[in-house]
Amino acid sequence: MKKNTFLLFTFLLFFPFGLLIAGEGMWIPMLLERLNEKEMREMGMKITAEDIYSINQASIKDAIVMFGGGCTGEIVSNQGLLLTNHHCGYGAIQRHSSLENDYLTNGFWAMSREEELPNENLNATMLMEMKDVTNAVLEGVSDNMTESERSKKITENKKSLIESAKKDTEYHVVIEDFFIGNQYFMIYEQVFKDIRLVGAPPSNIGKFGGDTDNWMWPRHTGDFAVFRIYVGDDNKPKSYSDDNVPYKPAYHLPISLKGAEKDDFTFVFGYPARTNEYLPSFAIDQQVNITNPIRIKIRQIRLDIFTKYTNNDPKVRIQYASKHAGVANGWKKMIGESKGVRRARGVEKKQQFEQQFNIWANSNVQYKNLISKFDEVYERILPYNLAYYYMIEAGYGVELINFARAFTNLSKIDKTTEKEAIEKMLADAQRRSESFFKDYHLPLDKEVAEALLAIYYNEQPIDFRPDFLNLINTKYKNDVKAYVAYLFAESIFTSPEKVAAMLNNFNYKKAQQLQKDPAFVAAKSISYFYTNKVMETINSIDDEINEMRRVYMRAQMEMQPEKRFYPDANSTLRVSYGKVEGFKPADAVTYKHFTTLDGIMEKENPDIYDYVVEERLKELYKAKDYGRYADKDGSVHVAFIASNHTTGGNSGSPLFNAEGHLIGINFDRCWEGTMSDLMYDPSICRNISVDIRYVLFIIDKFAGASHLIDEMTIVQ
Ligand code: ARG
Ligand code: GLU
Repeated sequence: MKKNTFLLFTFLLFFPFGLLIAGEGMWIPMLLERLNEKEMREMGMKITAEDIYSINQASIKDAIVMFGGGCTGEIVSNQGLLLTNHHCGYGAIQRHSSLENDYLTNGFWAMSREEELPNENLNATMLMEMKDVTNAVLEGVSDNMTESERSKKITENKKSLIESAKKDTEYHVVIEDFFIGNQYFMIYEQVFKDIRLVGAPPSNIGKFGGDTDNWMWPRHTGDFAVFRIYVGDDNKPKSYSDDNVPYKPAYHLPISLKGAEKDDFTFVFGYPARTNEYLPSFAIDQQVNITNPIRIKIRQIRLDIFTKYTNNDPKVRIQYASKHAGVANGWKKMIGESKGVRRARGVEKKQQFEQQFNIWANSNVQYKNLISKFDEVYERILPYNLAYYYMIEAGYGVELINFARAFTNLSKIDKTTEKEAIEKMLADAQRRSESFFKDYHLPLDKEVAEALLAIYYNEQPIDFRPDFLNLINTKYKNDVKAYVAYLFAESIFTSPEKVAAMLNNFNYKKAQQLQKDPAFVAAKSISYFYTNKVMETINSIDDEINEMRRVYMRAQMEMQPEKRFYPDANSTLRVSYGKVEGFKPADAVTYKHFTTLDGIMEKENPDIYDYVVEERLKELYKAKDYGRYADKDGSVHVAFIASNHTTGGNSGSPLFNAEGHLIGINFDRCWEGTMSDLMYDPSICRNISVDIRYVLFIIDKFAGASHLIDEMTIVQ
């Protein structure tokens, strides 16, 4: 027995679990030279790590921004021209749209600088420099501190480090934690505040395939939009002003028309938001087999009801387009993720690793019982996590209740509340009410309420559901429909007129009435339940989990000293690299690595909203009027896939070839591989990009905005 253990142990030393396979990883730009450059060059890269990230000279990083807080964008001209995804610019495009100027439907192209449209509250953040400050952040922190002592000390250290750093810089300074609190980087950044909309294709192109094709390959979406960064005349960030000028970047991306060939080296540079690659098996098991399925089920029911109504009524379809997209995006992602982990036997693999870990940790007091403690603590948090998900998905899935929740502040005013404060709340409420009812369809929401509240009521144990649901039992003899009928009949939140009447001459007496409104009662009951019965426990168990995960992360690194580790995504700038390649999604099926304009014509169906093709695009196709944007095979390539490790936030990220030239814009992942947020599998995890030649073809040939192409640096 002893001998076997020894053998296994030596085996592990030489073949550590999860040997890193090219394709996996979201790497820190500053550490590329040390950790990745050699491998990247072996895979075909012709440039250096210093060309990608440098603080001494202009480098590719100077052309990359976090766009609008949740996406990535890249600068492609010396005039601050910026590319990102259509779905990242969607909000901005929508806000500039009206019935007369419907830019979502028809697209938008500024034919001169004057026509470029400013966007309130849209930022682009550029990383200027990063520094490892781990030792300074952890100074005075010791292993025998409690979690709260520890985090207090760290917060203090961070604060003083940031304060002193700020003395010597005009940049914005933040400190981010990596490897679950085992490493800290100080990040200097510039935040641009005047970002204008320059161009967007019609949704038939920018969102072609819609939710039907979302997360799927083969894909034909021209998911791009064009913006421009404006600055003050000192070339520094400045809020919108008439006399701002286009930003002159230190570097802008050259664009290649050569395309992406099979097996070509490629890398992505952008802002992945969140991954969890180092979770214990218990956490993954719960997510994949318990919480995802519940959330999927609830969303499925909601989506079915959406579809039933939107299919029959074009007005409702527009009203619910964005809500549908949001609910469906997460729903589909979770389905793919659960399937992918099961198919890869992910939980079993993690369990095997944990067995090996236990053998290794056996003589270490700190690590020895970690795995069994994980088991216990995840078991303990499960009912609370479920309470949270039922609340979010089922409770607040009812729009009426969610809307009523927004009136919490108003409901609290009393005789002493200042007039000015009330006025402001009323103005907010009025605005919110207008935007809510613009996109609200009551019969749909009522049906959603019947379905979702029934699930909430029937599936959550009494002590894990908010009090208002118990009315269904005490007053309505378990008849959810009867309760919902009462809810919708009595609440004022069902009509804009009733809400307006309530807001008119609002005073503390009306606030008291508001408190009795059944939709408000439901909303309040949910939030009371969450704050008093769930939040505290979740937070305190989460503290335990975070501490354990931090220790486990460190232990995994100690156990496998030969392995190169990459930190989980945390919305900081990262590099992923891989190859342009297809994959086998299922037995007997093989996917090629690119799609073409022929595929768009093949999918065309004027009766299906997601597959309507623009006339102009058909004309260009018929005439084969492709300019210089066709591939050497004669067709226009639309999208391609590659084995780069990406996640949400990488939307809009540039795809580079071996020379460091732009060849595509990332916008999605293939469904079969969405479990890469939990575990990357190089055989099926693929990111999806729109081919830059299709982007230029649309700008130039379709939209006639060739002045934008003239600004760019195109290499043949
Ligand atoms: N799945 C992509 C992402 O996670 C695209 C989402 C937008 N597109 C859509 N059809 N809903 O952001
Ligand atoms: N569409 C995603 C985004 O908005 C990228 C897809 C993914 O999750 O990889 O960032």
